[in-house]
Amino acid sequence: MTSAVPQLDRLFGLQGRTAVITGAATGIGRATAQLFADAGAQVAALDINIDKAEEFAAGVRSKGGKAVAIRMDQGDPTAVAAAFARLDEELPRVDVLLNCAAIYPRCNFETVTPEFLDRMYAINFRGVFQCTQEAVKRMKATGGGSIINISSVTSLKAGIYDNVQYAMTKAALNALTQSVALEYAEHNIRVNAILPGGVATEAAVASVQVGDPLRGPFLQPGRVPLGSRNADPQEIASACLYLASGASSFVTGQLIAVDGGFLIS
Ligand SMILES: NC(=O)c1ccc[n+]([C@@H]2O[C@H](COP(=O)([O-])OP(=O)(O)OC[C@H]3O[C@@H](n4cnc5c(N)ncnc54)[C@H](O)[C@@H]3O)[C@@H](O)[C@H]2O)c1
Repeated sequence: MTSAVPQLDRLFGLQGRTAVITGAATGIGRATAQLFADAGAQVAALDINIDKAEEFAAGVRSKGGKAVAIRMDQGDPTAVAAAFARLDEELPRVDVLLNCAAIYPRCNFETVTPEFLDRMYAINFRGVFQCTQEAVKRMKATGGGSIINISSVTSLKAGIYDNVQYAMTKAALNALTQSVALEYAEHNIRVNAILPGGVATEAAVASVQVGDPLRGPFLQPGRVPLGSRNADPQEIASACLYLASGASSFVTGQLIAVDGGFLIS
């Protein structure tokens, strides 16, 4: 992306930067990976779904950009370490980390088993923690960077039933965001979270069952002031571009809702 207005490129462009995106195979991660590539970044797509991640990377390369796909199971600490080791062979540095990979299977609170809870925690929180550790080590060495965590409005306000375990993992991400932001500000590493409301991704639509009282706009019609609708993944991607780019150079430790006003309703 090259704008006719040079100041806009300086503010919102990602030319010369490398962005690591977990969960880049589909949905919000995929839309953001594409936007970052369009903004000039070299992109590493880390995902358990290697076929879709490779499809994204091949599409970028076919247009002259640089992108790599690396298989990573975020729930497996050995796999996360191996993915970052492989990353070091592929890309020279990490300027941006977008932690987007997560799962959100709904489950009635009384039937959640310890194994189910452990799996959610392993992928949605422990894996994000580990990716963040890997990124800050590299960012410290190269003078800074931007980390963006995809949290959820459900971390602050209940919006979906059978979702306690998911809301907990996202609340933990908010604490990770603010604590790491404070500890690494002196290294010029900014850490922020985006809290989407309902976003019309295939996975989200599938997670709302037929007959569910919350079907339709994910967080119920009338509870989303801006048009009673779900967001398009692009509306989350553009907020991520702001946080990845120089436009947000003085912004850190923030939990930014992109929710059509759900949290204020
Ligand atoms: N869609 C929504 O309504 C919504 C709302 C709030 C927050 N979010 C968050 O946005 C993010 C993306 O959600 P989405 O709706 O685009 O879903 P999605 O399923 O399309 O995207 C999730 C991605 O994570 C990958 N993934 C899953 N398990 C993995 C693992 N173990 N290791 C590595 N990668 C793994 C998937 O392959 C997929 O590419 C998630 O963090 C989700 O919690 C979504």
